Amino acid sequence: MRQDTTNIAFFASGRGSNAEAILENIHLGNIVAKPVLLITNNSKAEVLKHAEFFKVPWYHISNQTHPNEEKRVRFMLELLSFYDTDLLILAGYMKKIPNEIIEAYPNKIINIHPALLPKFGGKGMYGLNVHKAVIDSEEKITGATVHIVTDEYDQGRILAQQSIEIEEGDTPESLQKKVLKIEHTLFSKVIQDIISKKIELEK
Ligand code: GAR
Repeated sequence: MRQDTTNIAFFASGRGSNAEAILENIHLGNIVAKPVLLITNNSKAEVLKHAEFFKVPWYHISNQTHPNEEKRVRFMLELLSFYDTDLLILAGYMKKIPNEIIEAYPNKIINIHPALLPKFGGKGMYGLNVHKAVIDSEEKITGATVHIVTDEYDQGRILAQQSIEIEEGDTPESLQKKVLKIEHTLFSKVIQDIISKKIELEK
């Protein structure tokens, strides 16, 4: 990372409430960084409103815009490099990160997952599916995990977790709401801890 500022890029697919919370915290100075780029695979994603509001350049890159996978990945890498990305934040990105990107940004890609990993992670475990699985397994607690992205789904080093109790009557939808609320503070805190070196990322 350069000494001056940390350039943050986002990958996001949908509602974008995590991206919004992080952008808001950057704006408020709670995260000392510059949001330089947002890539979405969904041209209708709500997250684009937040990118527009905070004047973050965004690009729609999907298998529709770039049917050829090699070209698609190359374009993503070119953008990440053009915008001098230091940290790549996955804020509800529902696609697997290509290995070439993981190799180009080792220990620099951070994801938030709406459960307490290593439980309830892996392929297919995203969004409401996660909370359904948690309810079905009669867990007593759940929460959110921020972790480094590696080539295996949800397997990278855990940087921070926060838990909440599951109450009687909770549904996947109610859990999603409660967990999302903690995601919004946890993710920003971890990002600033990385920037201030309170959390060290391996080189
Ligand atoms: C968040 O709950 C995030 O943890 C989850 O998707 C949601 C995105 O919400 N991510 C995953 O499930 C990744 N496996 P948002 O678009 O409002 O930030």
